[in-house]
Amino acid sequence: MTKPSRPSQQTRLLHDQATPMAPVKTVNPAVQRGSTILMSDSDALYDHGHITYGRAGLPIHQTLCDALSDLEGGLGTRLFPSGLAAITGSLLAVLNAGDGVLLPDCAYAPTRRFGDTVLKRMGIEVVYFPPRASAEAIMALATPRTRAIFLESPGSLTFELQDVPAIAALARTRGIITLMDNTWGASLIFKPLAHGVDISIQALTKYVGGHSDVFMGSACASDPDLLQKLDDQVWQMGWATSPDDAYLMLRGLRTLNVRMNQHAASTLDIASWLNARPEVSEVLCPALPGARGYEIWKRDYTGLCGLFSFTLKPGPRRAVEGFINALDLFGLGFSWGGYESLAIPCDPQLTRTAADPDLKGPLIRLHIGLEDASDLKADLDQALKVYGQMAGLA
Ligand SMILES: Cc1ncc(COP(=O)(O)O)c(C=O)c1O
Repeated sequence: MTKPSRPSQQTRLLHDQATPMAPVKTVNPAVQRGSTILMSDSDALYDHGHITYGRAGLPIHQTLCDALSDLEGGLGTRLFPSGLAAITGSLLAVLNAGDGVLLPDCAYAPTRRFGDTVLKRMGIEVVYFPPRASAEAIMALATPRTRAIFLESPGSLTFELQDVPAIAALARTRGIITLMDNTWGASLIFKPLAHGVDISIQALTKYVGGHSDVFMGSACASDPDLLQKLDDQVWQMGWATSPDDAYLMLRGLRTLNVRMNQHAASTLDIASWLNARPEVSEVLCPALPGARGYEIWKRDYTGLCGLFSFTLKPGPRRAVEGFINALDLFGLGFSWGGYESLAIPCDPQLTRTAADPDLKGPLIRLHIGLEDASDLKADLDQALKVYGQMAGLA
């Protein structure tokens, strides 16, 4: 047989692969990028017992999923390209056309939007429940169509705590699936599965990522049927996450605990300081003794994060803008969970239809970052003085 001639330069440029070095043991896992996965032979192409296409996830994704399952105390974790995709994907995984779902009135605004648009379009009955209602009162809103109850505790912007274990236990007796957006708890200071929730969801974009530079979401469960439904959803919808982003999330996990401890210490300090300010009417931080939700927080949570709200004593919108614009160290921006402090006025995006959140003035949400807490208090102090003057409180 004649030896094939040496391929041309063009072909060699495409096919030459230097003999790979045996992997060395680095501190962090190696990141492989790839859409196509090359198979050993023809049979392997259609052998679904192993990964045949990169969209199903590469080793770095599996490493991240294993670490998240460990954190969550669950059997398996599925990844989504954003926190919102994890919420919508998990709901779609368990709901069928014609089913019903209960959503908390304090749900993250895009979760509400999804309920009011896509779910309604699918003929799904969406009922909002007052977030502070008892498990029995919430269950009384369930209809024969109700297939799932979605929880988000504490609630977005207004920080109501739900009695998660009681709701989950009651739902289970009725064969209703519970899902929880646990981004605030990051599954470090609150573990939904241990409290009876079926699917624990988080926007990894926040505390797991921790640096405000990457999107991803996760859903974790222990029931193999639910995991299969989540798998089918991810695969059928074609959602994929980048290996580099998975690497960043894995790196974020390494420091999650120490960052959370620092966020928590500064948050408690600043929340109690704000509580004593003459310009402030109420601090909505469930970890603050005496605050609404404190008893549930004390019972169910082992810590807190950097996100809470407070209301200013009533004043004109101009004065609220004056307060926000006077802030220097606090960035003005959405999202949270990064190392930096942020502030937003909440009133323009507050939608509530099931219960009056009973706010005692304009609502401000803060994210307390890893800066020195005394610098943050000094910044708040000068901005609150601006508010006091503009609102005529002095
Ligand atoms: C409570 C909550 N859940 C989910 C999300 C969505 O996360 P992502 O921005 O990754 O879609 C957010 C984002 O702000 C959030 O605040």
